[in-house]
Amino acid sequence: MAPQRGPTLGRALVALLSLSGAYARSAKCQPRAVGDPQLLNPDEVEDEYDYIIVGGGTAGLTVADRLTESGEYTVLVIEWGPTITAPRSGPLPAAQTNLNNRTTAVIGGLMLGGSSGVNGLQAWRFHPPNEDTAEALDIKYDESYWGNTSDVHASFPTFNWPGLRLEMEAFSEIEGVEFPPDSGAGSPGVYWYPTSADPSTMTRSFSRTGHFDGIARENYNVLTDHRVLNVLFDEDSASGVRYVAKGAKNDTDARSVSARKEVILAAGTIHTPQILQGSGIGAEALLESAGIELKVDLPGVGWNFQDHPLGGVLPLTKRKPLDSDGLSCRIRRVSLRTPDHRLRKRRLLPPLPVIAPEAFEDIASRFEAQDPAAYLPADSPEPIGALVYLHPASRGTVYVNPENPYFAEPVVDYRAMSNPADVDIEVEFVKFTRRYWTETSLSEYGPVETRPGEDVREDEDLRAYVRANVSPSTFHPVGTSAMLPRELGGVVDQALLVYGVSKLSVVDASVMPDLPGAYTQQSAFAVAEKAADLIKARA
Ligand SMILES: Cc1cc2nc3c(=O)[nH]c(=O)nc-3n(C[C@H](O)[C@H](O)[C@H](O)COP(=O)(O)OP(=O)(O)OC[C@H]3O[C@@H](n4cnc5c(N)ncnc54)[C@H](O)[C@@H]3O)c2cc1C
Ligand SMILES: *[C@@H]1O[C@H](CO)[C@@H](O)[C@H](O)[C@H]1NC(C)=O
Ligand SMILES: *[C@@H]1O[C@H](CO)[C@@H](O)[C@H](O)[C@H]1NC(C)=O
Ligand SMILES: *[C@@H]1O[C@H](CO)[C@@H](O)[C@H](O)[C@H]1NC(C)=O
Repeated sequence: MAPQRGPTLGRALVALLSLSGAYARSAKCQPRAVGDPQLLNPDEVEDEYDYIIVGGGTAGLTVADRLTESGEYTVLVIEWGPTITAPRSGPLPAAQTNLNNRTTAVIGGLMLGGSSGVNGLQAWRFHPPNEDTAEALDIKYDESYWGNTSDVHASFPTFNWPGLRLEMEAFSEIEGVEFPPDSGAGSPGVYWYPTSADPSTMTRSFSRTGHFDGIARENYNVLTDHRVLNVLFDEDSASGVRYVAKGAKNDTDARSVSARKEVILAAGTIHTPQILQGSGIGAEALLESAGIELKVDLPGVGWNFQDHPLGGVLPLTKRKPLDSDGLSCRIRRVSLRTPDHRLRKRRLLPPLPVIAPEAFEDIASRFEAQDPAAYLPADSPEPIGALVYLHPASRGTVYVNPENPYFAEPVVDYRAMSNPADVDIEVEFVKFTRRYWTETSLSEYGPVETRPGEDVREDEDLRAYVRANVSPSTFHPVGTSAMLPRELGGVVDQALLVYGVSKLSVVDASVMPDLPGAYTQQSAFAVAEKAADLIKARA
């Protein structure tokens, strides 16, 4: 039976008060976005829904939209954050032993729309650039690589700094750098990429605007400002969730809601493992230390954590501006797992032999000779070596805080640069950046390296520079509920169902077993679209 919620008196009152400006926000009385009748007050939550989605973020709202389209199923989304932008820097970051014990804030989007509401705007539904922009910047694109059925839009900005054109051309002077026909072509190289902006308004297009705003369906309910603590079970079958108001410090006022068909976790890479562990699904020793009763011994939960390190940054200033406007154009970031020079809207993703033509063989043979398992977290699931061997890089962990597993933020350890191959590659990025600025036509503009300084040349010194400067995150966390065979540390199977229980699935970036060779938003949307098809097929 579809939940029936006509306009109640309470609702009318909220609307009136908010018009008069006297309306104050509280857990009992939330503001409603205009045109979003599906947003609930806590007392309006039904006892039971077909699906409960935990987290109204990038993936969560996408799945909610797809599952409610036909009108056949009822869906409740419970979102920790509010309807408006609220970036969060909450979880406890562990000191990074390979980065001189530095710590870095863990940042995500705590809001309806999740990280897609605060991120750097990567895109989904393609709109070609206008002719002037395409010609001025020599933008190549191929629409056949893009979808056209999503309301999350991708378009090119109408203005770009003129200096970008020069920088783009400079890449063609480096041996081995390719220019693929489209950023979606799947081949490494330099390309212009569109951003997730709606071209009709030039504003952010994200999961809330594409999969929530203006959708008035009786069967699509959303409760914001509430946080799910754990999944409830009937034997081994997920039957619902327990949740509290946003600021609650204990579970005195916790409420429960039941799911007939499935509980779907979409709380993101940092919080999905916390909810699983809080529900008794995780490594036995961890749960025991936190006083949580074991349901499924699944050591892969929270393990296999990865992010794109942001580092090897080589600040430069120029004696001569790149164009008549005197704009400043610096190399802002070079990331490790995805080699990436990101200057506004163009991007370089070359393979390692292009970045490090001389050192490549040496790094590769040292990597092949190592035992990758030696660099994994101490309590890693057993036969993982083979897997990591194919995907060389450091792996971290996201585990509940044993002192306060439900209400404290989980402990996030990136373990950045714990595999020494990562440091080697980062050093090569610094060298590549130098070559790019000093051995191409960009050298005419007189770049001056301000850090670490052009006289810092020895690998050992560059390693020290990397350890002192790399950030472990580009806010692209994945991998903590990986889709892998259970014996290799997997958490979900190929149907996105959690091992060891039934009617419980994960649909966010945490299921990616390895970082994609790209930024992660589009992959999160892709996971969600595929997940919705899988869930509907087994409904
Ligand atoms: C600052 C920033 C910049 C980024 N820049 C880019 C970029 O330029 N390009 C790119 O491609 N990607 C970028 N990303 C990454 C990309 O946005 C994410 O990979 C993607 O959005 C993750 O989607 P998700 O659905 O897995 O999680 P999210 O979108 O983060 O959704 C998780 C949701 O769950 C909610 N939640 C968490 N715990 C609970 C709980 N216990 N109960 C209820 N709700 C809960 C959260 O509030 C959140 O809304 C960026 C991310 C950030 C944070
Ligand atoms: C980092 O901390 C560990 C443990 O406290 C300590 O042994 C180590 O010397 C520290 N490293 C640096 C570079 O400060
Ligand atoms: C969407 O893409 C499909 C497949 O490429 C194409 O057949 C269709 O015409 C496109 N629709 C629109 C509205 O562009
Ligand atoms: C629970 O937290 C509330 C405040 O959020 C506090 O008033 C109450 O005393 C707490 N109850 C217990 C049992 O700790």
